[in-house]
Amino acid sequence: MTVKEIFDTMDYGPAPESAEDALAWIVDQGASFGHFIDGAFTEPGETFESRNPATGEILANISRGTQADVDAAFAAARKAQPGWEGSGGHARARVLYAIARLLQKNARLFAVLETLDNGKPIRESRDIDIPLAQRHFYYHAGMAQIMETELPDRRAIGVCGQVIPWNFPLLMLAWKIAPAIAMGNSVVLKPAEYTSLTALLFADICRQAGVPPGVVNIITGDGATGEMIVTHDEADKVAFTGSTEVGRRIRRATAGQGKALTLELGGKSPYIVFDDADIDSAIEGLVDAIWFNQGQVCCAGSRLIVQEGIAESFHTRLKARMDKLRVGDPLDKCIDVGAIVDPVQLDTITRLVDANTAGEVHRAACDMPASGCFYPPTLITGLDPADPLMQEEIFGPVLVSTTFRTPAEAVSLANNTRYGLAATLWSENVNLALDVAPKLKAGVVWVNGTNMFDAAAGFGGVRESGFGREGGWEGLTAYTAPKDSPETLAPREAETGENGPVEGLDRTAKLYVGGKQARPDGGYSRTIHGHDGTPLGHVGLANRKDVRNAVEAAQAAGAWAKSTGHLRAQILYYIAENLSARASEFAARLDAMTGQDGAQEVLAAIDRLFTCAAWADKYGGDVRAVPIRGTALAMREPTGVIGALCPDEAPLLGLVSVMGPAIAMGNRMVLVASEPHPLAATDFYQVLDTSDLPGGVVNILTGSHAELGPVMAKHLDLDAVWSFSSTDLSAVIERESAGNLKRTWVNNGKATDWARPDIHAFLDAATEVKTVWIPYGE
Ligand code: NAI
Repeated sequence: MTVKEIFDTMDYGPAPESAEDALAWIVDQGASFGHFIDGAFTEPGETFESRNPATGEILANISRGTQADVDAAFAAARKAQPGWEGSGGHARARVLYAIARLLQKNARLFAVLETLDNGKPIRESRDIDIPLAQRHFYYHAGMAQIMETELPDRRAIGVCGQVIPWNFPLLMLAWKIAPAIAMGNSVVLKPAEYTSLTALLFADICRQAGVPPGVVNIITGDGATGEMIVTHDEADKVAFTGSTEVGRRIRRATAGQGKALTLELGGKSPYIVFDDADIDSAIEGLVDAIWFNQGQVCCAGSRLIVQEGIAESFHTRLKARMDKLRVGDPLDKCIDVGAIVDPVQLDTITRLVDANTAGEVHRAACDMPASGCFYPPTLITGLDPADPLMQEEIFGPVLVSTTFRTPAEAVSLANNTRYGLAATLWSENVNLALDVAPKLKAGVVWVNGTNMFDAAAGFGGVRESGFGREGGWEGLTAYTAPKDSPETLAPREAETGENGPVEGLDRTAKLYVGGKQARPDGGYSRTIHGHDGTPLGHVGLANRKDVRNAVEAAQAAGAWAKSTGHLRAQILYYIAENLSARASEFAARLDAMTGQDGAQEVLAAIDRLFTCAAWADKYGGDVRAVPIRGTALAMREPTGVIGALCPDEAPLLGLVSVMGPAIAMGNRMVLVASEPHPLAATDFYQVLDTSDLPGGVVNILTGSHAELGPVMAKHLDLDAVWSFSSTDLSAVIERESAGNLKRTWVNNGKATDWARPDIHAFLDAATEVKTVWIPYGE
């Protein structure tokens, strides 16, 4: 080929990376792997084959974890955990630092092994997966170092069961293991069955880095082994990344087991291009959004939403770019698109695309390898928002596209999905970009960039993309617990007594829905007795229709989420002021109901309202220093509409403590008052009525916790359900919440100290961190 021809075609030859060292490592290990338990590899048990998807060659035999293996791993993890936590932050930081250094020293081996096992281009494993994994250990070495000073009230949770997918095998392992062990936990981790090799190499690195035996345990196997891990009695915390379907199953399987749970699930992330965007960059971004890792990325920008005026030319330029992508041998450094992880995944992609008859399909006109597990980069234009391919996660190199006219339409199309993991938007207009970013229902938003990740910036979803964050300070919440050990909460029975007349005017307190008093749908009510058996009044018994009405009212009060922290603080102070004006009346009511010191409880409730008002304008988020051009904003957004069962042991203070932080952060609430002592709540809505709180922001129901808790957990328009009831409904609430994977916060039958609750825990549960990556600086 002449130099002129090279310049004309811009063609270049292959530049394959050698697989020699990685294959030699596999042979060195006997090509047949056991598990890594208590600091040593076990003898291989029953095995399955792990293949190179680009060639179909068998790479190694991997053991299928049995119950006995999983039990042994948890026993080792349990034994090792206290010593590891007790070794102190600095000792742990040194070990994490050593892991990071060893990952760096062995970067090439890891990258080649990852590419062989997964099929991803070596350019990606070398330049993205492995460096990001190192960075995660460096960053969390720092977190271990400063834990004692910065998180003085937090401790390790204990033993973590972790299950990860095959799309970023080492990186997902790093995301799970680094924060867990930094905070003093021990782990039992299962890599995905298609991609176990880098996890096994990592196990070897742990030995060299001085990780004490039992702190990190790696069990290989398939979904059945995964299930043994996530449901294991010894797992105090479960972390999962994978499909929404399995995430939902894990939510149900672990319900009521008292385990902390984080789920990072699927997505169908929008990629919005406005007509004023830098088109070349937006097209290059798309290559990274949907053809990076063959589109097998949970946050892949898989739904292109492009402004109508530029759509045609954008598609034309995009097709031209696609046609130039190089698909082939993942070990070739010139390759853009590698192999699909496994024939099973290739079948899934093929089946989904072949079933589609809508729109126009463009398959990249690039050369395709004659054999191996490959799928061509594909674009499908002209789809309707409701078409299955616009809604279903394909998890392959397939981009679907639709158009919009106005920014409002772009937002509504972007949010027209059950998922909420990530979103990308391109515009040269900073006003437009920063107006749209907060409107996107997604855990991560990239402005004029895409698929950027860093250990300092939280990652995770909303809606059916799961809950919990990985990375940043917020990622540590999932791996720490408060140091106080709460006491068991005894169920509180309603007081009983005669059904005589109520002193004064007999009145049945109604429900409070949409800022108005409402009769309960069923028309039933119940007499409330004082602690001495005196009848004090009657309350309505809410049913599922009342819950529905209250949720609708809360949904309609969405403007509250957009109000300023200052305004919310003002209203909380006003509520406190009005409660204070009626302090003696409330005190008397509490005395009569509970026989406790009512005056003290009212004073504490006013104090709590002040605390919530104080936080309303001080919990907005922060900025993260990321080692990529730009910066990441960690914005605290309200969770949404929260249903809460209020505590029974502090009928007024408990209600205020649950409501206050939530509305301070911009949430709307459906509160179910204390079941045995509801009258403080029904008196309280009169205070709300006079305090300028917009109707629908707080709705108050009275009735049976056991009946209303599951109804709220099942409700698809509630974003979260909290239970502080003395009736322990943790299991049923967690199980029923799996439908829309709503956030749950349940007490597992444990008491909260309402005199001194952890306000940060409430503010944290009342918000979701949205990470917004923006261009900034050079
Ligand atoms: P998957 O969700 O079945 O597998 C992920 C991990 O979970 C693997 O380690 C697997 O062994 C384990 N697992 C499976 N069933 C389990 C159970 N009942 N309990 C505990 N662990 C279990 O994902 P799969 O089948 O590999 O891929 C299917 C689809 O899931 C893909 O086509 C894609 O749409 C989606 N997916 C999404 C990912 C994400 O990061 N959001 C990652 C992988 C897959």
